[in-house]
Amino acid sequence: MAASDTSHATRLRTDKSGLPAPRAAASAAGAASAPAAMLLQQAREQELAGSLADAIGRYEAAIAGAEAAGEARVAAEAQRRLAVVRHRRGEREAATALCERSLEVATEAGDTVLAGEALNTLAGFDFESGAIELARARFYQALELGGSSPELRGRIEQNLGILANIQGNHDEALAHYQQSLYAFQRTGDDHGCAIAYHNLGMVSADRARWEDAEECFRRSLEITAAVGDVHLTGLGLLNRSEVHLARQRYGDAKSDAEAALRIFDRLGTRLDKADAYKVIGRVYRETGQLALAEARLTAAIELAVSTDSVLSEAEASRELALLYQVMGRNQEALRFLGAAHRLFGRLDARLDLVDVARRVQRLEDTYLAVVRDWGQSIESADSYTFGHCERVAGYALSVAQALGMDEAQQTTIRIGAYLHDLGKVRVPHEILNKAGPLSREEFEIIKQHPVWGVELLATVDFPWDIKPIIRWHHEKYDGTGYPDRLRGDEIPLAAQVICIVDVYDALTTTRSYRAAMTPKEAAAQMHESRRWWRPDVYDAFCRTVPAIAAAA
Ligand SMILES: [Fe+2]
Ligand SMILES: [Fe+2]
Repeated sequence: MAASDTSHATRLRTDKSGLPAPRAAASAAGAASAPAAMLLQQAREQELAGSLADAIGRYEAAIAGAEAAGEARVAAEAQRRLAVVRHRRGEREAATALCERSLEVATEAGDTVLAGEALNTLAGFDFESGAIELARARFYQALELGGSSPELRGRIEQNLGILANIQGNHDEALAHYQQSLYAFQRTGDDHGCAIAYHNLGMVSADRARWEDAEECFRRSLEITAAVGDVHLTGLGLLNRSEVHLARQRYGDAKSDAEAALRIFDRLGTRLDKADAYKVIGRVYRETGQLALAEARLTAAIELAVSTDSVLSEAEASRELALLYQVMGRNQEALRFLGAAHRLFGRLDARLDLVDVARRVQRLEDTYLAVVRDWGQSIESADSYTFGHCERVAGYALSVAQALGMDEAQQTTIRIGAYLHDLGKVRVPHEILNKAGPLSREEFEIIKQHPVWGVELLATVDFPWDIKPIIRWHHEKYDGTGYPDRLRGDEIPLAAQVICIVDVYDALTTTRSYRAAMTPKEAAAQMHESRRWWRPDVYDAFCRTVPAIAAAA
């Protein structure tokens, strides 16, 4: 499991010092300029100390004063900084409007560095809302306009590192972060160095280089303690807590994450709080405190929703699903996995990010793990069918491939295979395990299991079309199946695939009423019943499964 989420780093870019306020003051001519520049400086100090409400008031006063005095540069800088603070508090629209205004004012004043600053900040906002290509374009535009400032160049270099990182290019990210560190060291920007170390820590954690990661976070936290950036301290603590978590140091993980949470609480930064709750929830889950884990992960989701952060909501939903799996609450686990999948789908449609693809892959792996566990827990009630779901899934996959089904259809088939007999949990144990033939009444009960399976999943929405497989995996092409006596192509192809391999597995395993057949015997018997399946399904089956089973 990745130790850190890129979302922590992405928020850093909007948090940089731009043109230092004293320089803005010095450059603004005349005594009338002093108050606005001074207000800006005070606002910055309040912001760094974590008094955001005071800082907002002071920034607003600085903007009003600068506008009245015609001090474009002070106004542009105050607008941009206020935008950053508002954005951190989840006020996205106000933040964007302020920053766009800052860009206009700086451009009118002919200050390319301040215009570059505004673009850099706007790109950061784009990035967080998921508009990744727009963000990239703006970062390059910012570099073009403001690259004459080594200090700004260092930060853009860092932002490009963040982009490389989220796209899974860790080497490239590392190189960008190192460049940004050198730039900040050259300009003597301690705050910049603290951020660079922080991001180097994150990329090291992504590569599971835990010791490097810890050392980078230690240096970053050391510098932030000296320069007094409370927010960055919180982020450093939270990300270090994920390193502890990955190394199973649960006590350290909890104390770092809780210290981070106290900071974010004080700052009122809800999205960071969401991430802190998520880590604390994971610590509780890993240490078996399941009720506490549920409370924290639920809080993480609520906060992510309230700040409109799709990525955080998706990640927290996946973590909660894993908790429900541990608790045996499988329907809820699948519900939250479905929610996470839909959220990633929204991101994927906009971003086409490698990193999202990796997260979706991880999510689908989680899906398979949850349904496999659930399928196996059903088998444990029926000693004769142990391993049935796993074999059906394996056979079905090879038939699906022989039929030329695509990746999504193959995933549908695999998940359907694990869950196809879910409804058997409602069939009495003595009927499932009965030695000898079933009575008519008993068979009527067995025949309900496809319907019961779908009922058990009534509250679950799958990203794949699983339910037709469950309901119709006993339907036959000649209309002799159950529960709906469908005929021909009324039966979905995926259900036919499961049907044929299900029959094969039943024949080739020992049952309470007869011994297992060899693959050859089973294939001969199925040849007699080939009217039960669509001809291409039967052909695909013959070309793959008996040979695979015989070789196994
Ligand atoms: Fe079945
Ligand atoms: Fe089955």
